[in-house]
Amino acid sequence: MTQSLKPHFSRFFAAEPGRLHFAAHSHHPWPDVTFAAHQQAWLDAATLADEKWDRVFGEVLPSAQREVAATLRLPDPQTLVFAPNTHEFVNRIFSCLPDRARIVTSDSEFHSFERQLRRLEEAGRVEATRVPAEPFATFGDRLVDAARAKKPDLVFFSQVFFNSGAVVQQWTDVVRALPPEPLVVVDGYHGFLAVPTDLSAIAERAFYLAGGYKYAMAGEGACFLHVPPSAPMRPVNTGWFAAFGALEGAMGDRIPYGPGGTRFAGATFDASGLYRLNAVMRWRREQGLTPETTRAYTQGLQRKFLDALPSSSPLKVEQLLPAAGDEHRGQFLTFRSPDARRWTERLRKERVITDAREDRFRIGFGVYQDETDVAKLLEQIARL
Ligand SMILES: Cc1ncc(COP(=O)(O)O)c(C=O)c1O
Repeated sequence: MTQSLKPHFSRFFAAEPGRLHFAAHSHHPWPDVTFAAHQQAWLDAATLADEKWDRVFGEVLPSAQREVAATLRLPDPQTLVFAPNTHEFVNRIFSCLPDRARIVTSDSEFHSFERQLRRLEEAGRVEATRVPAEPFATFGDRLVDAARAKKPDLVFFSQVFFNSGAVVQQWTDVVRALPPEPLVVVDGYHGFLAVPTDLSAIAERAFYLAGGYKYAMAGEGACFLHVPPSAPMRPVNTGWFAAFGALEGAMGDRIPYGPGGTRFAGATFDASGLYRLNAVMRWRREQGLTPETTRAYTQGLQRKFLDALPSSSPLKVEQLLPAAGDEHRGQFLTFRSPDARRWTERLRKERVITDAREDRFRIGFGVYQDETDVAKLLEQIARL
């Protein structure tokens, strides 16, 4: 891919023509194909009413499972289950743990996990060890050491950290080096469709979660969890959809669970996110857009941005996380600065969209931008 796919995002551009959007790592603009897909969800509700669920469970959801499984090289699409957000999955996974469970994680997990974990700690229900994400190069080794020392029930870490964009180095090897006892969950939200990801070697060992909001360009309501088939768990937090496909009565008095990922399902949800996700995945194929081509294109834009950043700029290459030249970076640039929030607010006033997480200023690159946009962004940053 050598050209931007800008014309395919015409509806988002038309909605606010003056906006310069550099937050692809957050609410990604939706390509035009999602418009018809979203309408189709409405039309199916109107035409089919309650019978729309036959379509959702017979066509829409299996198609989304196949698309995600193919992208992640998962051997069996049925290990995938969908939910409106990752928070739901996090809670369902927590509900599999014993009382006073021990948890090993990083100090850089997204709030959906971190806030819930802190609250559980406050309630005395879990004990957590947080391994510092930095130095990034040794995170994997330190995580494995902590897991060996603490004998946890759960190990939870991100494929790509949300507050730096650092990709955990050889993260599938890290999963394989962990002791065999704990559940292992990888938050892949900043990896899915941003970083080429092959789960085939760890599909039996690790849960993997991500969703449609960011690089999948499909919006909210389409989060997914890969459930390793080897350990059939019975989450205590369980919705009635988790019973779908279960053999009725086969388990006596025990609450039955459906096969594959179904056991981690919730309840009634808005399926429009899955319609949009399917439309985007089809469109990506038509455009020859793979995680590899996306990465090559967006890294090209990142390089252009960094090469053109003048020494007089308030943004300094030395503030980059991970350091300049480090290849283990996702699809956004992170600069550490006490001015991160102020910069974001100033730029927003000019309708230049970036974001900040505490002292981290984040600029996200995507296939809907081109070099002209990068030049405009540099101009705006020079004025900060
Ligand atoms: C690493 C990571 N995980 C998860 C999420 C989303 O969480 P949820 O779907 O619970 O809102 C985000 C969103 O920004 C994220 O950055």
